[in-house]
Parts: sequence; C-alpha cells; structure tokens
Amino acid sequence: MTEHPHATLTADAQRATLPHDPAGPSRAGTAASGDRGVFLDWYARNRARSRQLFDLLSPEVYYSRPIALRHPIVFYEGHLPAFSFNTLVKRGLGGESIDAALEQLFARGIDPHESDRGATPAARWPSRHTVQQFADEADRRVLDALAHAPIVQDGHPLLQRAEAAYCILEHEAMHQETLLYMWHRLPFDAKRRPPGYRPATHGPSPDAAWIDVPAGEVTLGASIGEEPFTWDNERLATTVHVPSFAIERHNVTNAAFLPFVEAGGYDDRRWWTEADWAWRTASRIDHPPFWVHDGGRWWWRGMFDLVPLPRPWPVYVSQAEASAFARWRGARLPSEAEFHRAAYGTPGGDERRYPWGSTPPTARHAVLDFASWDPQPAGRRPDGDSAWGIADLVGNGWEWTSSVFAPFAGFEPLPSYPEYSADFFDGEHVVMKGASPVTAAALVRPSFRNWFRPRYPYVYAGFRCVRERGAR
Ligand code: AVJ
Repeated sequence: MTEHPHATLTADAQRATLPHDPAGPSRAGTAASGDRGVFLDWYARNRARSRQLFDLLSPEVYYSRPIALRHPIVFYEGHLPAFSFNTLVKRGLGGESIDAALEQLFARGIDPHESDRGATPAARWPSRHTVQQFADEADRRVLDALAHAPIVQDGHPLLQRAEAAYCILEHEAMHQETLLYMWHRLPFDAKRRPPGYRPATHGPSPDAAWIDVPAGEVTLGASIGEEPFTWDNERLATTVHVPSFAIERHNVTNAAFLPFVEAGGYDDRRWWTEADWAWRTASRIDHPPFWVHDGGRWWWRGMFDLVPLPRPWPVYVSQAEASAFARWRGARLPSEAEFHRAAYGTPGGDERRYPWGSTPPTARHAVLDFASWDPQPAGRRPDGDSAWGIADLVGNGWEWTSSVFAPFAGFEPLPSYPEYSADFFDGEHVVMKGASPVTAAALVRPSFRNWFRPRYPYVYAGFRCVRERGAR
C-alpha cells in the first residue's frame, strides 16, 4: 500500500454534509474473514468519517475537555489511529514502533482520577501537527498491514478470524459516537454546522400504547463463529426464559416526559433510589440534561442549535431519571432479556436478525448510521416495527435497561483488547440496547451490548417502560 491515505480520504470527506453513507460500514459487518478489500475500505471510510467529525470543530477547542471525566479532544485524534496501530500492527503482527512515547500517550483513556492535566493542558499535549503526523504514519502502517500482512492466522490469539482487524474497525466506529456526544456539550460557536442541516422537529407525538408480549425464550449473546466478530461481552450465546410483560410501543418522548418534570417528579423522593436521589441533589438536577429552561419555555440543546423542545422526539436521559419516571408511572425499565424479546422475538418462537426481519437497516427501518445529528420524531418508521408492532427499538437513541452489565457464562477477555469489558464488570454499569442516530450500522447486531453508569448524563439514550401484562 503505497498510496497516502489522505489522497482518498479528503474527497470522501468533502462529499457529504452528513457523514451518512448507506453503502458504508454496513457491508463490512458481513465480511468474510480475510476479505482485505472490505477491511481496507472500512478503515478508509472510518478515517474519513473521523476526520469529518474533527472538522466540525473550531481549532480553538482542540485542547479543551467538553466532558470533565473524558480526555481533551486532542487525545482522541491521536487515540484512534494509535489504538489501531498498537493493536493490529504492534501487538498482533509484531511490527516496530513509530514513536513509543506517542503510542503510550494515546493508548488508552487513562483512569479519570489520574488524568487531571491541570489548567494548562495545551502545554502538556503535543502540537496538532505532531498528532496528525503520527496519525498519518499510523494510518499508513495499518493500511499496509490490512493490504499485505497475515492478518488472519488460525490459532493466533489476536489474529484468528481476523480478530484484531475487526476490533480496531469496530473500536473506531464506536468512538465516533463518543466524539459526537462530547461535541454535543461544546458551545454552538465552537462548531461548524453542516450547510443545510436542520433538525427534524415537527409533527405529532405518537399516542401512548402498551403492547403485550407473551412469555418465551430469548438468546442473548452469540456463539463464536456465528458472527464475523463479537466483543467478549457478547460471548457466549445464552438462552433466557422471559415471562410475559407489556411494553410501550414507543420510546418515552419529550411530550410524555414533560408532565413528570412539571409535576415535580425530580423533587419527589419517592421516585428515586437512594443513590440516584443523592446524585440528583448534589448535582442539582431538575430536568433532562438535553433540556434548557429559558424565558418560561423549554428548549432542547441540539448539536448545532437550541430548538423549542421537540415534543415528538424520544427524551434522552440518564438511567436514573428514566427509572424515576417509570416508577412515577407505576412501571419499570425493561431488562436486557425483555428488550430482546420485544425487539427480536416472534409469535412463532423464532428470533429475528433485526426487529423488522432480516433486511439490513435502511432509512425506512431505523434512525441510525449517522442519519442525523439529533434525534428524530418517534414512531415515523413503521417498516422498522418488531414482530409485536413495537417501534424504533433499534435506532433513534439507545435504550436503557435495568440489567447490570455482567459477563455471560463462558466469558473470556478478548485477546486483542482484554480490558474492553472486564474493567466494567463492577456492578456499577448497566446495559443499553438498540442504537442511536450516530451508531454505525456495522455495530447493529442483536448481541451487541453497550453500557454506562446509570447516572451518566451525556449519551444518546432514552427508554420505554414495561409493566405486567394486562395491567391497565
Ligand atoms: C462500549 C461505548 C461503553 O465508550 O466507554 C471505546 C467503548 N471502549 N474505547 C466507551 C470504548 C474503549 C465504550 N462503550
């Protein structure tokens, strides 16, 4: 691979105002192991999209830290290529270093408590030029490896079934969502709104409806070899019996959440767990993190604009707020297994690949794969309904579950990234399922699990309620 990657990336990056590409990574998810063309293409598309995302920002914020517990922006521009280079080229293939100090600096999100770089972070981080030079060289070596090196080796812990190649590709795709929810917190004047972009805010909010789902079995996780790649937390396939339940047809929308806020739900101790109440009180939380109260009105803090609260959008809240709302409603959050039953189960007992069947996702089915910088109205993709007629289960916002993030029987840390999940099996994280508007299509499979702390307020995540079947 002699071509400089940026030669192809720049044209790509200029093509679209939204980083959406329907022919993009979704194809890669079904790649046969060792299909170099697919890996090369996916890597180039990933890099082009990451570049587009960095290009949304004004250079002045490069050393800033939009979320206090995360690294400054500069870290991520180095981290993405460094992780790919470290994992595939250095560790997988035994390749030589480019710059050991930078490879170490950008290796991993350091423990937040140890990473306080003080008031002058710019002085402690390399110049952007240095970061980009390193990134370019890492890209060259990764692309060269994907094109020519033995990246599929039976019996090699990091290379069997092309594990390291998939690992770096899915890692970058995931980080693109992380970048965007960080960008979301930046002041509007630090961002360049793509020309022509307007959030879709209009139309009616869907009516509340409960759908009964009968008891049945679900498969969580997947067996090795069933998918081209799975993360360690998806292994192994686990069958769970799910008693019957009723679930909301739609995500809880801003319109549905508003009465809880206006009824004083945030100030009523009854709806909150002890830990959530302590957090809400200490952080003075009295409305969803994406909402702004100003001039006697509610607004939504979008990616590029403040917009009058879009009533039909799914509300994005922490799991703590979602649980409080559910309790107020006499309901609760679904478990991970209930989400699976609602999303992938069928009356006949078979399980589907997607809620709507086996067709890979398109804009008809779901709001995902960078379709929008903000949510879209709930319930507008009936072609994406599950077998039970439940809407938007995949896309338009991750969905909180009540399930603590824990390994399935047979879990083993992934050799190419052993800390990926294991560090989070601490009882302090909960599972989210589905996808958001900026979740790459390549990550959309039934076994994929996302997780965060229940009081993490920044992610593109909402919820729906469940209760006993037949309750009215
Ligand atoms: C799977 C989204 C919880 O962002 O903390 C990226 C993904 N891990 N690099 C995270 C991840 C390491 C992870 N989540």
